[in-house]
Amino acid sequence: MGEALASNGGPKAVPADIRRPWPCITDADKQAVMRAMDYGIYSDDTPEINALQEEWAAYVGVKHCLATNSGTAALHMSVAAVGAGPGDEVIVPSYSFIATATAVLHHNAIPVFVDVEPETWNLDATKLEAAITPHTKAILPVHLNGYPADMDAINAIAAKHDLAVIEDACQSHGAEYRGRKTGSLAAVGAFSLNKYKNLCGGDGGLFVTDDDELKERALMLREFGERVYQGEKRQYESHAMGWMYRTTEFVAAFVRSQLQRLDEMNACRMANAQIIRDALGQYEFVTLPQYRDDRTCVFWFFPLMLSAAAAGYDMPEAAFRDAVTDALGAEGLNICSWQRKILPAQRIIHDKVGYGKGSPWSDGHYKGCVTYNVEDYPVGLSVADRTTWLVDMYQWPHTADEVQYAVRAFEKVFSQLDAVVG
Ligand SMILES: Cc1ncc(COP(=O)(O)O)c(C=O)c1O
Repeated sequence: MGEALASNGGPKAVPADIRRPWPCITDADKQAVMRAMDYGIYSDDTPEINALQEEWAAYVGVKHCLATNSGTAALHMSVAAVGAGPGDEVIVPSYSFIATATAVLHHNAIPVFVDVEPETWNLDATKLEAAITPHTKAILPVHLNGYPADMDAINAIAAKHDLAVIEDACQSHGAEYRGRKTGSLAAVGAFSLNKYKNLCGGDGGLFVTDDDELKERALMLREFGERVYQGEKRQYESHAMGWMYRTTEFVAAFVRSQLQRLDEMNACRMANAQIIRDALGQYEFVTLPQYRDDRTCVFWFFPLMLSAAAAGYDMPEAAFRDAVTDALGAEGLNICSWQRKILPAQRIIHDKVGYGKGSPWSDGHYKGCVTYNVEDYPVGLSVADRTTWLVDMYQWPHTADEVQYAVRAFEKVFSQLDAVVG
């Protein structure tokens, strides 16, 4: 019998003072934000924003970057830039964050889902062609958890059917696919800078493209449909539907400061994640995503998939996952079941709620007949039921020694499953 579980009154495996916040702020970060205070102009054609756009475009390996106030905004700009709009279908993986699908709805286009791969939980390119219809305009793969989707296969199918490809790179800052960074693997891409992301601005986003025309369209969407250019007088004329998706100097300065250590921070995440992956390999009821050698995973979070059946318990998988997650949380880990429902099962999509009154499915533009049958996505369903996601204890600047606290928490809980689910 091991030490009592923290959920049963025992000591925590991870003392609170071991855990480091994300992002871990340096003096240089603070100075960067203070520097932005001194400019006297805080958004719109300003030094930090302009510099961040140049630096991120260079980092990713594309011509253009537009900084935004969220990843969702950058994703919406991507959908609009490739010309997906009323009546068009955009193919999206069954398992992702809801913004991947709502960014499509935001431009009155229709999300169509393809299930994910059992090994990686990314869009399954082998199922893609079956989902293409005469209404399909674009494919929107997600680099889930910082692991690049199968872009060569996806791009080849897109080229064959004359479709645009949009990267949801919101979780994949710095991840590489066959030597190229995510964000440079398709026509347009979107990154998030929200509070959990590998590159963090509190909130914010980055739209990227190599294409001048796509950048022009995205620029209009970012600012009221106007054509607002660096260094030029504003004309105050709106040419297209536009929103207000600009960001601020403070966010840009903070992000630029972290960008200088992004590769170091990612290397730390990857090394620490490997320590945990190695330690969890011994448990038959734990499955980890399988990663291929031709790409890197920058581990936005650390996911693991549990199996009640493999552990010998006759109970619903989600209930087993939740009980284990709660016990791990009680041990002092920040761990959660991120995305408990696949996208086509969420009410806004499943019941075609959209904007209300059935729009955009029912507004007259859409000539297709998409249906959202949850059973059509068995792999996504299984991932949603069985995965739990570790949020802390492995990110920069946690050391390999500190990661052992997380490993001990897993070992403690996994060696007392009867006490967890009993
Ligand atoms: C895969 C994915 N897409 C889109 C988004 C939206 O990004 P944001 O929260 O910055 O709007 C997120 C954010 O969590 C995400 O994880």
